[in-house]
Amino acid sequence: MPLTAHLAGALSITDPVEKAGQTRLLVAGWRDGSIAGLGTTPPPVRPGRPARPELKPPRDVPRRRIGPSAGGRIALLHAIAHIELNAIDLALDMACRYADADLPRAFFDDWLGVADDEARHFLMLNDRLAKLDATYGDLPAHDGLWQAAQETAHDLLARLAIAPLVLEARGLDVTPAMIDRLRAVGDDESADAFAIIMHDEVGHVGVGKRWFDYVCGLQRLDPVSSWHRLVGTYFRGPLKPPFNIAAREAAGFAAAFYQPMSERDDLFAPPADSG
Ligand SMILES: [Fe+2]
Ligand SMILES: [Fe+2]
Repeated sequence: MPLTAHLAGALSITDPVEKAGQTRLLVAGWRDGSIAGLGTTPPPVRPGRPARPELKPPRDVPRRRIGPSAGGRIALLHAIAHIELNAIDLALDMACRYADADLPRAFFDDWLGVADDEARHFLMLNDRLAKLDATYGDLPAHDGLWQAAQETAHDLLARLAIAPLVLEARGLDVTPAMIDRLRAVGDDESADAFAIIMHDEVGHVGVGKRWFDYVCGLQRLDPVSSWHRLVGTYFRGPLKPPFNIAAREAAGFAAAFYQPMSERDDLFAPPADSG
C-alpha cells in the first residue's frame, strides 16, 4: 500500500491511542522504505474521533487554572492532549491531502516527522492523565483546530499559513508559562512533558515556515505579504501578543511576519493579564 492509503487509514482511526500508535508505525515504515510511493488516496473529510470528548464552542470549555489540587492540571493536560490529537490529524492530513502537488520527498519526510512527534506528545499526555486518574475524553473540548483545517483544505499555502504558523506558533508563546506554573505546584513530570513538547514545536513551526516559503517560491509570491493576506482571510481576529520572539526566531519565523498582524503594537511588553 502506498503512503496516502496508510495516511487515510490512520486518519480514519477513532481510538486516539490506536491512532497515535498506528501513526508511529507508519512513519517508521516510510523511513525504512517498507512504505513507498505516494498513491492517490484522499484523506477522509473528517478524521475519526472517539465518541468522547464532547466537542463544544470554546467559551463552554472549562478554564484550566493550575493549582495544587489535580483538577486544574487535569483540565490543562486534557486540553493539550486534545490539541495534540488534532495535531496528529493535521500532520497526517498535510502529507495526504497535497500528495498530488508535485512536492519533493522532503515535504513528506518533514510532515511525517511532525506526525510522529504529535503522536508521541499525545501518548505522553495520555500517560500523565492516567497518573492523575483521568482519561482523554473525560472533559469537553473544542473543535476550533479542525474547523481551521477544513477552511484551508482547498489551498496548501493557506493551510501552511494557518496551521503551523498561526496555531502551532501560538503554542510557543503560551507553553513556557504553563511549564513554570506546573513546576510551581510541584508537578515536575507534567512540566517535563511540556518542555519536550515545547522543544519539538519549535521544529514544527520551522517545518511550516520552510514549506510556506517553498510554496511561495513556486508561485512567485512574496512570503510576508502573502502570509498577511492569508491570515487576514482565514484567521478571524488579530494575533495575540506577547509573542515568544526567541522561540519564533529559533524556528526561522521573523517578526516581520507576525508583528503587523498583532492586536497591539507593544510586541515586547508583558501580557496585560497574566491569566
Ligand atoms: Fe505537539
Ligand atoms: Fe506540533
